[in-house]
Amino acid sequence: MLEAGKLKIKLVTSEDGSHTLRIPELKEHYHSHKGALRECEHVFIQMGLESLSLKAEISLLEVGFGTGLNALVTFFRRAERVINYTALEPVPLKLEIIEQLNYASLLQEKTAADVFQKLHRASWNEWVEITSGFHLEKREEKLEDFQPIIEYDLIYFDAFAPHAQPELWEASIWRQLYGIMKSGGVLVTYCAKGQVRRDMQKAGFTLERLPGPPGKREMLRATK
Ligand SMILES: C[S@@+](CC[C@H](N)C(=O)[O-])C[C@H]1O[C@@H](n2cnc3c(N)ncnc32)[C@H](O)[C@@H]1O
Repeated sequence: MLEAGKLKIKLVTSEDGSHTLRIPELKEHYHSHKGALRECEHVFIQMGLESLSLKAEISLLEVGFGTGLNALVTFFRRAERVINYTALEPVPLKLEIIEQLNYASLLQEKTAADVFQKLHRASWNEWVEITSGFHLEKREEKLEDFQPIIEYDLIYFDAFAPHAQPELWEASIWRQLYGIMKSGGVLVTYCAKGQVRRDMQKAGFTLERLPGPPGKREMLRATK
């Protein structure tokens, strides 16, 4: 058993062969056990990143950096865009956990291992140029305390599920996120619960219920 902060963590293999982490105390995984990589590709890349017009530069916010899987895949799927990627993570994983994850070997990209290392070794709380088209700012901070000075085109909302971390799915969170997005900005999340949808709509978002990744009927895309 490994550790993240005070929580015990177990490395497990999801159904598509990619790793995820399980926190027994929360009865929660970092990703879908039906496929961590498939979930990332479907929810965040196809329904999120690739739904935006080919804007030259995108400011992206990830809620919950965790294993860095979403950042890694975004790096290779950014096409010609410049990505300014801010990731919030109050409980950074230890390098001994990161080093066991098999994402780089699954991506079929020659430089994936090198990029994955760079994403994780990048300093916290400052902008780091991973390459000329991808800038990363990892903030060791909770979403609830985050007060950005820019507005976002795209949000990957990848918090633990409502039963494990209800405070991240409250109405006040959607108001906060609506307030820090550009007009036309998009938020994607794997969760499609009724209460979440109603609270997002009340905050001002226009919602789409989209087919979910394997094992999930629906996911949400919210547009400001
Ligand atoms: C479902 S995991 C997903 C992590 C990551 N996106 C990945 O692919 O590995 C949720 C993440 O949110 C982080 N988290 C917990 N509380 C948070 C908070 N208040 N604000 C932002 N992130 C939080 C957790 O530590 C964890 O890394």
